[in-house]
Amino acid sequence: MIRPRRLRSNEIIRKMARETRISVDSLILPFFIQEGNNIEEEISSLYGQKRYSKDTIARGVEDALNQGVHSFMLFGIPGNKNELGSEAYSEHGVIQEATRELRKEFGKDIYIITDVCLCEYTSHGHCGMIKDGYVDNDLSLPVLARTALSQAFAGCDMVAPSDMMDGRVSAIRNILDENGFQNIPIMSYAAKYASAFYGPFREAAGSVPQFGDRKSYQMDYHNKKEAIKEVLLDIEEGADIIMVKPALSYLDIIANVSSCVNVPVAAYSVSGEYAMIKASARQNLIDEYKIMCETAISIFRAGASILVTYFAKELAGAIKRGDIG
Ligand code: PBG
Repeated sequence: MIRPRRLRSNEIIRKMARETRISVDSLILPFFIQEGNNIEEEISSLYGQKRYSKDTIARGVEDALNQGVHSFMLFGIPGNKNELGSEAYSEHGVIQEATRELRKEFGKDIYIITDVCLCEYTSHGHCGMIKDGYVDNDLSLPVLARTALSQAFAGCDMVAPSDMMDGRVSAIRNILDENGFQNIPIMSYAAKYASAFYGPFREAAGSVPQFGDRKSYQMDYHNKKEAIKEVLLDIEEGADIIMVKPALSYLDIIANVSSCVNVPVAAYSVSGEYAMIKASARQNLIDEYKIMCETAISIFRAGASILVTYFAKELAGAIKRGDIG
């Protein structure tokens, strides 16, 4: 008789024989930063997450650092939106100011990843420029590139384009290189699906598209091979890390992509995934802590080596306690 149970007989041997290991170093915590001052408010669509302003974000970062989380992804909520999304690349835009503040306060103790996208900044809520009612790819590229450059000047460590325009990785790589930022890596949202799981984020960031949807640029969730096409293109254009997003309904994509590429694969466990866990825990239908642990590990087990998650601090705690990792 072969007895697989031998390796499950106690916690020590189970941990020794474990196949998937994670560390707090693989976790990235997203933050929403709103233009203005003295803002620290709960986000109603994302229980437990807050909106900060440039003068309060240090508190959020400090708290995360105390849990051992040191990598952050910054999303901006500007004071003014317009057709062209020009606040996205303004020298004194919300993300640029917050990046400078955080760099001043924490130096190189933290890793700042800035989101490169336009949907939070455009009055129409799309991720690119509109021409004749359509999101125009090539008109959007210089705006995205300029946005990434302004973030580099503000002192970010890495840029993360989430817009899904074709050719934006090379547009960003070129402008960064031309300006002496050849050492800033690009984490591209390479396989980003048009997903209803982004609902709570759009609520939080005020980035709901004012007409139509994002299906002409984000991927169709019926597709799997297309994810390979997207990630290989982004790598060819110079992406250092590629991302699959969302995570939980896309574990097959993470598995497939990670077996095809030779760069780190990040997964973004998005707002709807977080909100579902939070909401059902509040109804006492599930054990929030255990579900958080199990779902996070499933994403690593599928093949991701980096996880962007609103649960980063709580997962850090679970790793510290030895419940996962
Ligand atoms: C911006 C962007 C979105 C998310 C990350 N960057 C929203 C969208 O594409 O509509 C979603 C993240 C989340 O749901 O947590 N393009």
